[in-house]
Amino acid sequence: MVRAQSRFICQACGAEFLRWEGQCRTCAAWNTLVETVVIARAGDRRSGARRPGVTAEPVPLSAPSEAPARRIPTGLRELDRVLGGGIVPGSLLLIGGEPGVGKSTLVLQVAGGVAAFGGVLYATGEESAAQIRLRAARVGLGAGPAADAISVLATSEVGAITEAARAHPPALVVVDSIQTMTVDELDGPAGSVGQVRESALRLMELAKGDGIAVVLVGHVTKDGSIAGPRTLEHLVDAVIEVGGERGGVMRLVRASKNRFGSTDELGVLEMGEGGLTEVADPGRAFLAEHDGAAPGSVVAATLEGSRPLLIEVQALVAPAGYGTPARRASGIDPTRLALLLAVLGRRAGVGLGAHDVYANLAGGLTVAEPGLDLAVALALASSLRDRPIDRHTVAIGEVGLLGELRPVAGVDRRLREAARLGFTRAIVPAGRQGGTTDDGIDVVPAGSLRDALAAALGSSGGRGPRDGDPGFESVVQATIESGTRVLG
Ligand code: TYD
Ligand code: MG
Repeated sequence: MVRAQSRFICQACGAEFLRWEGQCRTCAAWNTLVETVVIARAGDRRSGARRPGVTAEPVPLSAPSEAPARRIPTGLRELDRVLGGGIVPGSLLLIGGEPGVGKSTLVLQVAGGVAAFGGVLYATGEESAAQIRLRAARVGLGAGPAADAISVLATSEVGAITEAARAHPPALVVVDSIQTMTVDELDGPAGSVGQVRESALRLMELAKGDGIAVVLVGHVTKDGSIAGPRTLEHLVDAVIEVGGERGGVMRLVRASKNRFGSTDELGVLEMGEGGLTEVADPGRAFLAEHDGAAPGSVVAATLEGSRPLLIEVQALVAPAGYGTPARRASGIDPTRLALLLAVLGRRAGVGLGAHDVYANLAGGLTVAEPGLDLAVALALASSLRDRPIDRHTVAIGEVGLLGELRPVAGVDRRLREAARLGFTRAIVPAGRQGGTTDDGIDVVPAGSLRDALAAALGSSGGRGPRDGDPGFESVVQATIESGTRVLG
């Protein structure tokens, strides 16, 4: 006799309770009770995790495997790139992003792309079928064979979704969103840890058991992580994050976990009147449009996965008022910025300890690649000296704690992309031959941040006043002194 019922299980010690309580009576931990479906067989109380009908046989590792499943293209090449070449049949994907970023639009377009490969079940707990239809018309899925192959199911019950999917197996099931889904056996509200976890588990069984790819849409919390239990991210095969600048049109797609491909690839899409489209030239997308060189602006040649990307770094430094100077970074890791400020002050004579510092990347991009360091450091120095850096120059290199420039991977690829986009000069870490490349880029190797500053700004960092620039240099000198005071 198999009977499903719900219990509240402490996530810290595993104790079971019939009702929710704020504190576990066994281990005294707070807020650890999660409503969970348990399947109780007569005489066997603790079989919670086991599910009926699931059997597995050990097989030798050398056993011939089935041919690897063909991936299903999503219709958006940029997304395929991030996924590693399309959706793997029977896989479970999670797509996360802030409200309004375009998750529903993305999954609807994916549904449109996959429709030709065996139909799509689009389950929505957030919108009505009529609302989906309006959006479909916007993205060009108003009518036609693709629209015929997509069925919309407005429900928040996971049971209804799995039932419909098993009755007429599609190639893909979309669930928008996992936080609106519930299972009958649990009383907790949609979005609670227990409901989200159990819903995801059942949809995983559908994916793995029936070989139907399932895409879950997930909301993110204020701190940017996907709402719900951490186990949600462990459960799925890939987590795709959709981001972009608020108010901007650029949408960036990245995998933070991917069992079927790399997590380094970046997809670049544009949100327009007809939904998400590919950007014609992603290499150019993160270069701000302005005429002439501006102080504080430096172009970095970075590498995102296999794609070289030229990104404009912008920095602004201004003498701080009272109190602690401000440090604001957008698209750049704040601890990386702090480190670069310290290295600039102590190793290159560019003290910014008494200045407010703002640094950001054009286009709402976030980059964690170390090759960006040099461009950020040069942008800060350029802003402090109010002296522009030649706008046909790109910077490549990681900055070490001793002020040395460290080599980074893929310099040739970065240089080729820079040449393609019309840049003529590159400051790169030493160890590489100087001179002009075949593409016509003048390569300037620099061993240290000081050398790089000299190459970019035409003088050394802060070795005392220079002729013809006394007023400015005294500001720099005062800054170095105050910077040393703050640091030391
Ligand atoms: P949506 O996909 O509903 O976002 P999410 O599901 O992540 O909350 O779309 C959000 C925004 O995208 C919305 O403000 C309208 C805009 N949008 C367009 O600009 N063009 C379009 O073709 C579509 C469908 C939406
Ligand atoms: Mg939505």
